[in-house]
Amino acid sequence: MELTLKSARRFIDEIPAPLAVVGVWGGELSEEGQKLDGKHRKALTHTMHELHFKGEFGETLLIPLATRRSEEEGPGFALLFGLGKKRGVSLETVRRAGARLVQEIARLGFKEAVTETFLAEKFGKQEASYALAEGALLGSYSWNKYKTSSPTSKRGEKLRLWLARASGPAVDRAEMVAEAVNYARDLVNEPPNILTPAELARRAAEMAQELGLGVEIWDERQIQQAGMGAFYGVAQGSANPPRFIQLTYKPQTPASRVIALVGKGLTFDTGGYSLKPSESQITMKSDMAGAAAVLGAMRAVARLQPQVEVRAYIAAAENMISGTAYRVSDVLTSLSGKTIEILNTDAEGRLTLADAITYADRQGAEAIVELSTLTGACVVALGEKVAGLFANDARWGREVQEAAERAGEKVWPLPMEEEYLEALKSTTADLKNTHGRSRAGGAITAALFLGEFTEKPLVHLDIAGPAYTEKSHALGPAGGTGFGVRTLVELLGV
Ligand code: BES
Ligand code: ZN
Ligand code: ZN
Repeated sequence: MELTLKSARRFIDEIPAPLAVVGVWGGELSEEGQKLDGKHRKALTHTMHELHFKGEFGETLLIPLATRRSEEEGPGFALLFGLGKKRGVSLETVRRAGARLVQEIARLGFKEAVTETFLAEKFGKQEASYALAEGALLGSYSWNKYKTSSPTSKRGEKLRLWLARASGPAVDRAEMVAEAVNYARDLVNEPPNILTPAELARRAAEMAQELGLGVEIWDERQIQQAGMGAFYGVAQGSANPPRFIQLTYKPQTPASRVIALVGKGLTFDTGGYSLKPSESQITMKSDMAGAAAVLGAMRAVARLQPQVEVRAYIAAAENMISGTAYRVSDVLTSLSGKTIEILNTDAEGRLTLADAITYADRQGAEAIVELSTLTGACVVALGEKVAGLFANDARWGREVQEAAERAGEKVWPLPMEEEYLEALKSTTADLKNTHGRSRAGGAITAALFLGEFTEKPLVHLDIAGPAYTEKSHALGPAGGTGFGVRTLVELLGV
């Protein structure tokens, strides 16, 4: 669905839309609804009570209003939209309402509507406008690039939604951020035969060019020459060569600080010789969701122009099997100089990330945030909705956690327990890439491994759970979720 948002100063009668949306909160018309003129208010309350409409969250009721003869006479229909109980509402309620609302309006077949800005009295005009607009834009996302016919999306293909008494700047900002999230979703949803490491790099460069970001892409030869032996080891089995992607955003005036974003960019993860069962491979095109989140964030950053310098690093590769692929027991020399014994070729993400983190550190990052679909163990620990947050620096960890809270993305801290580092000591090399047969604490040992490659403040977000979903969710359809983009945008203080 193609959604256009407009902020409007006024509500119902002044907007020439055929449909007007009024919230029902705690079983009663919203404050905005109470302010409607007598004729409308009576019609709505009467029908509501007559039909026992309770206004559970997402519940809707379409009510025809007195026959309208022309556009000037206002809407022909009102849609009551349930916001649920008074207790426990949050900005997430508003965000989800936005998503649910656009889907419902499209389902009813309207091309244009006006809605009140839900809960603006409670949360403030700016915050409520932002959440509603963001939810609407995320909820209108669809992925049908490879469908040669899509009969279901014919109805309501285009929708213009007026947000009454919304804050214009808040809606503008929501547009930029949601566009960035949807861009990340597109990248994740792209099939792996199309989105190879080279194609990911091409798209990153294209975006950089379009938005005025600095860009440098290395090919396999440059990656090898730079000494990125851990990254290259993972990549060497694929016919699709790796790329090292670097993007830079510099503010106009001197930057307050330099932050590096690192994203895991495995365009497909078969597991390599430690092959994944075919069922586990089904979602593995999403193993570049960290990279997608970083690119999405750079997109928003380029537009929002914050005061921080932001550098993005992505080691893009494919984890495949062939005569040139790396094997169990190989020893790789990372960019840091540390040697790594391979115990499991499916623990490939940490190898690519080790070199990207070392490089980000050497280039002068003051603090690093790294996002990766790193471990199944993190999904076991926190489920599919919550990302694991690991920090080697409590302050930096809190800063990222608070950004995620503001953004409405769920993260939860897990410990980088030093005692478990013992499990990563190798008898042959400096480190081994997994702790062998035991699966205990797998998300933690993965984080500890990454922590061996920088002394700078590092936050590792394990997004293996929330990055991808096989079912539709409150803010979008099945597929890539764009998780992480909103947290990064909040973090960078834009
Ligand atoms: N890409 C996977 C992690 C993953 C699993 C992401 C499920 C999303 C959903 C990663 O490369 C991997 O395979 N990790 C292994 C590590 C193990 C071999 C130590 C895992 O989690 O099993
Ligand atoms: Zn793997
Ligand atoms: Zn992986």
